[in-house]
Amino acid sequence: MSSEPAARAADLTLDEKATLLGGASTWRTHPVERVGIPALKMSDGPNGVRGDGLGARRTPGVVIPVGIALGATWDPDLVGELGDLLGREAVRKGAHVLLAPTVNLQRTPVGGRVFECMSEDPELTARLAVPYVRGVQQHGVAVTVKHFVVNDTEVDRMTVDVDIDGQTLRELYLRPFEAAVLEADAWGIMSAYNKLHGQHCAENRHLLTQILRDEWGFDGFVVSDWFGSHDTAAAVDAGLTVPMPGPKTIYGARLVEAVERGDVDEADLDRLVDDVLRLIDRVDARALSSERPEQSVDVPAERALTRRAAIAGMVLARNENGVLPIAPSATVALIGPNAGGTRIMGGGSASLQSFASESILDAMSTRVDGLVHEVGTRIDRMPPPMGERTLRTPAGEPGLAVDYRNGHDFSSPVVVSDVTPSSMLRFFGSTPAGVDPNAFNVTATGSFVPEMDGPHLFSAVLTGAGTVTIGDTRVFDDPGRDLPRGPLFFGMGSEEQTAVIECRAGEPVDVAVTITGMGGFAGIRVGVRPPDPDDLIERAAEAARSADVAVVVVGTNDEWETEGEDRSTIALPGEQDELVRQVAAANPNTVVVVNAGSPVSMPWIDDVAGVVIAYFGGQEMGPGVADVLLGEADPGGRLPITYPKRLEDTPAWPHYAPVDGVQSYGEGLLMGYRGFDRTGVEPLFAFGHGLSYGQATWGEASVSTAEISASELAGGAHIDIAVPISAPGDRAATVVVQGYAAPLDPRFEAAPKTLACFTKAVIEPGSSQDVTLTFAADAFRHWDADVGSWAIDTGTYELVIAASAADVRQTVQVKITR
Ligand code: BGC
Repeated sequence: MSSEPAARAADLTLDEKATLLGGASTWRTHPVERVGIPALKMSDGPNGVRGDGLGARRTPGVVIPVGIALGATWDPDLVGELGDLLGREAVRKGAHVLLAPTVNLQRTPVGGRVFECMSEDPELTARLAVPYVRGVQQHGVAVTVKHFVVNDTEVDRMTVDVDIDGQTLRELYLRPFEAAVLEADAWGIMSAYNKLHGQHCAENRHLLTQILRDEWGFDGFVVSDWFGSHDTAAAVDAGLTVPMPGPKTIYGARLVEAVERGDVDEADLDRLVDDVLRLIDRVDARALSSERPEQSVDVPAERALTRRAAIAGMVLARNENGVLPIAPSATVALIGPNAGGTRIMGGGSASLQSFASESILDAMSTRVDGLVHEVGTRIDRMPPPMGERTLRTPAGEPGLAVDYRNGHDFSSPVVVSDVTPSSMLRFFGSTPAGVDPNAFNVTATGSFVPEMDGPHLFSAVLTGAGTVTIGDTRVFDDPGRDLPRGPLFFGMGSEEQTAVIECRAGEPVDVAVTITGMGGFAGIRVGVRPPDPDDLIERAAEAARSADVAVVVVGTNDEWETEGEDRSTIALPGEQDELVRQVAAANPNTVVVVNAGSPVSMPWIDDVAGVVIAYFGGQEMGPGVADVLLGEADPGGRLPITYPKRLEDTPAWPHYAPVDGVQSYGEGLLMGYRGFDRTGVEPLFAFGHGLSYGQATWGEASVSTAEISASELAGGAHIDIAVPISAPGDRAATVVVQGYAAPLDPRFEAAPKTLACFTKAVIEPGSSQDVTLTFAADAFRHWDADVGSWAIDTGTYELVIAASAADVRQTVQVKITR
């Protein structure tokens, strides 16, 4: 902590208070230099720390597995280690606040941010959010647990109004936030974009004051989601500390006016100022400047941790006839678009520049002699951006030359020059020093060196006014920024423009881009799709036929799974289902690796011998998948979300589409596996499902007591269930013993069980171990909406010991007395 005495609200003028609360720029708050109050810097997570802008040169950093892959680990200790790593990363990136973790629930499998969230289950999410928050904050870095609350779809995300009953809100969607505040003492919360019961979450007093501060005793700060606050007086009244970003803000001058008009009480303002001052003390911002240079620190031990995490979150969903692990002597055909194009994270604000990362193809090629590769099909939604392999600056270096100028005149003097390694450039809130973020322009020039002859499809999307010229062809021509907007760049990108240009291998084609930027924001995406032979799938099947094992790496990418847009289907994009069918027909030893951040359908499931769900596993997922396929590691994951056979089977699906702007959570408590339990509809894979290479035998469980009183539970007593598990085979077995609870009263008919606790263990070969489940008070409580408080009913409860929501091993009954 700094030795300087902390300033207090009373030391500040009204102007200074209002300025302090309004964001200064995209990532920073204002300093108040007169009284020594420093600026704060915030930076996006949750699967890394991005640092400042997203310009030509982003500061590379460590990329851990995305939220759903953390959910699949079912391992709070491991998530705590990752939180610790992110805290260190945030310090290196000069950030006082990490905008993470994302703890919304995966209400449907199509939500654009399902990959970013941890689970459909509130308790699993809560158990992982707590160590994540502690891990980050032990470095003096604040979190903002987000997005508070019911931000579970990207459909009309800034305006959609959620209608949900009080019990479901408390027991499901608020639960992870409650745990992060009460158990981990989270220093920050981010309000959600959407409305709850007619009011934007950033202006919702019931949420931000009554629940968060009054009930939970939260003493941190609340930041709005970016551009997600609208009404000055309502936001202050609700308890929104800092609307972000700036400089245009609903606080600042507008807050001064609101106080002077009498719409806002200055005492309310002072409370918010105290929130910011407390945060400054907590993160020691006086000693740690928000302008210190960002550092990229690539540490072998951190790579090892992210690899361990990637493996721990991989789910072996199917393994028939011992097809996995692959024998060392086997010949392997490695097929599929994501083998070489392995996706380590999803799209949107969570994405960042990764350290060098090996694809599954890279990792397998170095470890399997004579491996054969076929791409099989392509899944790019748009022609992919070009990289250093095919781009050259006018000076002949890899990449494109980038020049920045102030204003919107492309002939004004160049202020800064740089080289970009990719034809995708994003400026999100910051521009290089000396470039005016409010009005600037960028040109990118160089050439593209084709790798084959034939017609190439070029595509361009720009956020600003500009042009894209390839060879002699004007692919993009929009000097007035008149084109309609498309989904890219958070809805600020133009519709895609395309042109087909005939190229010859090795003969460079000129590339020239011009674009205007404002508000620190500009985005360029120029892509190319070279011609493909039309027998890609046949070639893949042929390769499969002559190998001992065929591994098909299917999946999505950050264009299909991204913040800002839900998916319209759970089907794999493009012709991947057909690819798997034809490969499986050619080779009975076909293993599918699914490299996607959300559930996908698997219409070919009965035709393949093995399925590994690897998610977006972070920068070390390539080597991690190789470890699992080759049997050097046990895939330790369990599904954190139900995989439906059809999207329509998802319990929330009938209530998915907003009606007149209102999204009703009509499935209530019966979300996810609870709904499947209720209806008996069989999923493709149940919540909690996952296999191990080791064999595990579960013995008879013993319960510590068959009766306990509600007051004992309230005082901290609990029921323990010990499950003896042995590993009779010659490999260690990874188990995740899951404890579900349900009252045996009419509520049981409605929701047969909810996850209460779980324990992950590795049983060494030939040994046996008691794995203990602890059912504490929270396992038995329910929200009594009539009274507005938690209650534990007396009566009989069923405790379910299970290997997944559909694989119940034993049930015991316990009695709760008064
Ligand atoms: C996202 C937040 C993110 C913020 C800043 C928003 O679009 O919803 O999760 O922290 O942008 O990038």
